[in-house]
Amino acid sequence: MMINQQVVVIVMMMMLMPLTQSLKLNAGNWGRSFEGENKETVTNLQFYFHDTLSGQNPSAVRVAQPVDKNKSFITLFGALMMADDPLTETSDPKSKMVGRAQGLYGSACQEEIGLIMAMSFSFTDGPYNGSTFALLGKNSAMNPVREMPVVGGTGLFRMARGYAIAKTHWLDPTTGDAIVGYNVTLVH
Ligand SMILES: *[C@@H]1O[C@H](CO)[C@@H](O)[C@H](O)[C@H]1NC(C)=O
Ligand SMILES: *[C@@H]1O[C@H](CO)[C@@H](O)[C@H](O)[C@H]1NC(C)=O
Ligand SMILES: *[C@@H]1O[C@H](CO)[C@@H](O)[C@H](O)[C@H]1NC(C)=O
Repeated sequence: MMINQQVVVIVMMMMLMPLTQSLKLNAGNWGRSFEGENKETVTNLQFYFHDTLSGQNPSAVRVAQPVDKNKSFITLFGALMMADDPLTETSDPKSKMVGRAQGLYGSACQEEIGLIMAMSFSFTDGPYNGSTFALLGKNSAMNPVREMPVVGGTGLFRMARGYAIAKTHWLDPTTGDAIVGYNVTLVH
C-alpha cells in the first residue's frame, strides 16, 4: 500500500517536471540525435523567373502528356514540363543573372490551370553563389498572386524552410511564355 502511494507520487512528480533534459539518442555506430543550436537566419530573395516555351531555344519543354489529349483540352491536365529557367535581378531578361530554376512542373488540376512545381532554385551571385533551395507545391498559375512552400536547401540555405510569393509580371497567352516575380522568405 505504502509502495503504491510512493510510486504514484513519483510518477506525478515526473509528469510535472519541466522537460529540461536535452535530447540525446544513440543507435550503435550508425545514428545519433542531439540538440542543435537554434540560431536561425532569415533570408529574403527577390528575383524574376523567365519561362520560355516558344522559339528555337525554349527553357521549358513538354516531356509527357496524356494519351487522350482532348480530355485535358482546357487545363492541360497531365502535361509535364521540364524547365531550366534563368533567374534575373529585374524583370528585364537581359538584367543580371542570379541563378536558375531547374526541375519539373506539370498540370495537376482538372478544373483549373494549376501546376505542381518540383524545382531546385540554385544561385550564382554574391554570397548565395552555390546555394540552393527546393520548392514543392501547387502553383495556381492563373491567379495574379500565389504562395508556394520551400521545403529545404543546401549550402547557405541548408535546412531552409519558407515560402515563395509569385506574381506574374508578363504572360503571352498564345505561347505560354512568362516572366514571374518571386519574393522568397527563407529561415535557415
Ligand atoms: C475536344 O474537347 C472540346 C472541349 O470539350 C470539344 O469541343 C471538342 O469537340 C473535342 N474534340 C474532339 C475531337 O473530341
Ligand atoms: C560562383 O562560384 C563558382 C564556383 O566556386 C565560381 O567559379 C564563380 O566564379 C562564382 N561566381 C560568382 C559570380 O561569384
Ligand atoms: C516580399 O515578402 C516579404 C515577406 O513576406 C514582404 O515583407 C515584402 O514586402 C515583400 N516585398 C515585395 C516587393 O512584395
